[in-house]
Amino acid sequence: MDWWRGLTGLMFFLILPSNIIGLWWVVGSPLTFDRNAICRRSKKLRGSSSQRDVCRKEPEVVEKVVEGTQIGLTECQYQLRYSKWNCTTVQNSVGKVLKQADTRETAFLNAMTSAGATYSVTQACSMGDLVQCGCADRPRKKKNHGTSEDKNDDLEGTWEWGGCDDNIEFGYSKSKEFMDAQQKKRNDIRTLITLHNNEAGRTVIRMNMFRECKCHGLSGSCTLQTCWRKMPSFRKVGNLLKEKFNGAAKVTGGNTGEEIIPEDSTVKFPTAADLVYSTDSPDYCRPNRKVGSLGTHGRRCNGSALDVGGCDILCCGRGATEYEFTRQEPCRCRFHWCCDVQCDTCKTTQVVHICNGYDTTPRKS
Ligand SMILES: *[C@@H]1O[C@H](CO)[C@@H](O)[C@H](O)[C@H]1NC(C)=O
Ligand SMILES: *[C@@H]1O[C@H](CO)[C@@H](O)[C@H](O)[C@H]1NC(C)=O
Repeated sequence: MDWWRGLTGLMFFLILPSNIIGLWWVVGSPLTFDRNAICRRSKKLRGSSSQRDVCRKEPEVVEKVVEGTQIGLTECQYQLRYSKWNCTTVQNSVGKVLKQADTRETAFLNAMTSAGATYSVTQACSMGDLVQCGCADRPRKKKNHGTSEDKNDDLEGTWEWGGCDDNIEFGYSKSKEFMDAQQKKRNDIRTLITLHNNEAGRTVIRMNMFRECKCHGLSGSCTLQTCWRKMPSFRKVGNLLKEKFNGAAKVTGGNTGEEIIPEDSTVKFPTAADLVYSTDSPDYCRPNRKVGSLGTHGRRCNGSALDVGGCDILCCGRGATEYEFTRQEPCRCRFHWCCDVQCDTCKTTQVVHICNGYDTTPRKS
């Protein structure tokens, strides 16, 4: 039955576009966030050897990577909650966006999920959840007297390193091993862009490690502090990557096709933490199954904002309809001794704007 196995292998090869790396394992329907399914798939696909190795040797790490990509996806949904494409997984939208050529949205997804994987693995190390890793080694000298590696250091007095330093290098390398795993050659532009954006996600965490301290000494006197290196919160990572998303650089393959350069030569060269894309996004105004657009009909918009979440932009000029909701809530509660609480009932009115559909004549709300 070898021919049969070969054939199914070939089928997989043909079904999945070979140049999809990074999140290739969630592409296709339904989204795969199950370690076993991912590892089964990576076994069937020849070539993605580092991913296969991690799957075989370190299933617990894969579990954390997968958890991390979900954290990344959830944060993507938060960050794009006012955008036309809101990172939804409904109708496999995320999978379809990943299959598109490299748009800003693809860039954001790749960066966010590879950051999520870095974050989740690193955190697992600090929590002692993985046998492979623990807190980071601390080669620095133990006592510090107001001196440290941080440039704008505002710590005064004596502090020393103590507690658990987040092992960012371990999380970084596992995320890289898994997310950068690829099936084919490295020199097509699409691969370069994906790898760049994956790296940007990891870099943003690495560059924003900070020192957290705790005071000791007589009731808050803080005569001694212990400090440790900590990752930024994932919300902060999301905020930073959202800024990179807004300022993403459009790039091309250059002359050799082996490096990416800004399309507009007056734009400064993207750094490792910047996001890059090569294709303009579809407008996401109307439903288009092929590109993963669900349209913005029925989306809630902000009647007064002029930016992305405002009705003008979010509803793509179709206008919005205003709805008024009245809610009754207990209010002005008083406590009577003993033990009775009396409240009035208050009515609050909330105005909500909802984007119109496609066949209504545009009207202002
Ligand atoms: C995201 O957009 C889709 C359709 O465009 C909508 O159904 C969904 O409710 C939105 N999700 C959020 C969290 O706004
Ligand atoms: C709508 O936008 C305005 C101005 O940007 C902002 O102050 C307000 O909080 C927003 N309202 C909602 C419900 O998001």
